[in-house]
Amino acid sequence: MFFPLTILAIIVVGIINSQQKSHAILRNFPVLGYFRYLFETISPEIQQYFIERSTDGKPFSRNQRSLAYQRAKNIDATTPFGTQLDINNSNYEGIKHSIYPAIVNEELPRVLIGGPDCKQPYSASLLNISAMSFGSLSENAIVALNKGAAKGGFYHNTGEGGLTDYHLNGADVTWQIGTGYFGCRDDDGNFSPEKFERKSNNPLVKMIEIKLSQGAKPGHGGVLPASKNTELIAKIRDVKPHTTILSPPGHAVFSDAKGLISFIAQLRKLSNGKPIGFKLCIGNTHEFEEICQEMINANCYPDFITVDGAEGGTGAAPLEFSDGVGMPLEPALIFVNKTLVSFGIREKIRIICSGKIISGYSILKAVALGADLCNSARGFMFSLGCIQALRCNNNKCPTGVATQDKMLMKGLVVTDKAERVFHFHKNTLHAANELLAAAGKNSFSEVDINVFMRGDEFTKLSDLYFPDNLTNVVN
Ligand SMILES: Cc1cc2nc3c(=O)[nH]c(=O)nc-3n(C[C@H](O)[C@H](O)[C@H](O)COP(=O)(O)O)c2cc1C
Repeated sequence: MFFPLTILAIIVVGIINSQQKSHAILRNFPVLGYFRYLFETISPEIQQYFIERSTDGKPFSRNQRSLAYQRAKNIDATTPFGTQLDINNSNYEGIKHSIYPAIVNEELPRVLIGGPDCKQPYSASLLNISAMSFGSLSENAIVALNKGAAKGGFYHNTGEGGLTDYHLNGADVTWQIGTGYFGCRDDDGNFSPEKFERKSNNPLVKMIEIKLSQGAKPGHGGVLPASKNTELIAKIRDVKPHTTILSPPGHAVFSDAKGLISFIAQLRKLSNGKPIGFKLCIGNTHEFEEICQEMINANCYPDFITVDGAEGGTGAAPLEFSDGVGMPLEPALIFVNKTLVSFGIREKIRIICSGKIISGYSILKAVALGADLCNSARGFMFSLGCIQALRCNNNKCPTGVATQDKMLMKGLVVTDKAERVFHFHKNTLHAANELLAAAGKNSFSEVDINVFMRGDEFTKLSDLYFPDNLTNVVN
């Protein structure tokens, strides 16, 4: 009975498909065509499980992901038998180790943030959690990140989705203000100084970051897909539930350098002098120079600038923006550092960076290129159990990290993953300390491009991007 019914069902489906007009494959191959859709759906898994080698896998290779998992699980993160990379090619940079290594510092490095006008300077860890909103990530993920950060003494950036109770589990918080002003907007969606003042004075909020742009989609603004915009998230953000929420590409409060600098001054006043900074992906370099000039004119400086590389991650972005807009982290860091030096304002401002910071090596390199401290987003996602399934944008994240689906979220056990977040941070910074010592240095402030064998390649990179300016600026 079952067999004839199955045959009948296949025949009916075949007839229906051969008549429909929207899918050419199914019209031509009414039954076999489904296999194509099936394989397409599971193609990331097939790639990862059967095809990918240790050194491939994008955006992060299997080796990079394994390193993050091992450090998060606090298990042996050594590799056997030597490097799998081709280190005889011209991309190999190599750290110049010293014959007289320094002693490895067991203390994890910290950096004081707070310029001349800051009344509440903040001592930050060298590595912190980069902006990822509640909405983009699940509540379990946010709570686990926050608890891990509280245990490890590093900060957790809220992302542009606003400051929520899930961010207030004890960690130091950097509250990000995006163009949607979520959490500090009035009924018309404009910035509300009153709401900002109230929330920013929460003692757990240590710093405030104005988001200008993000490396994965500079000039686009945030995207919260309708499937992830639940009643709760809509309530937190003051928006309509189950609709796609696009934050505007630019800020309504300001539209030029002067406006940005007075907004910084306004936020500093309202927050009673907490460190205020902005995050951007470098695009038009002249606009950044204009901002520097305006800081000097107004005698008002941000306490930090976060430079996000175009290789950065996102929950959801149009492909054109991820693949084709903005400057990658390395030249961007060189540019920002050199520009601040050339304007004589470098010592007033800390440079934070993000863009595939996932190991001790990437931290050392970022510092060599001009960063004072680093943020990691996807590194910490791996520590939560992210398997790079590439489903952050459709609410189907199988590990419960980047989804609002309660069924999937329950797989992420907060107590277990908070420990992993804590260990990933600690072990990664310990690896950075070990590299520093191997280079014969005692402090990250001694690190510059000369620590790398092909440090001069970095200067060439800067010439490639900025051939006509900055040539007289110190490294
Ligand atoms: C899921 C996800 C959500 C993100 N949400 C934000 C956000 O709300 N605001 C922001 O400035 N950047 C956001 N980012 C970008 C990260 O903060 C970071 O700048 C970028 O991913 C580079 O760091 P990474 O290479 O360590 O991931 C997000 C990234 C991811 C992966």
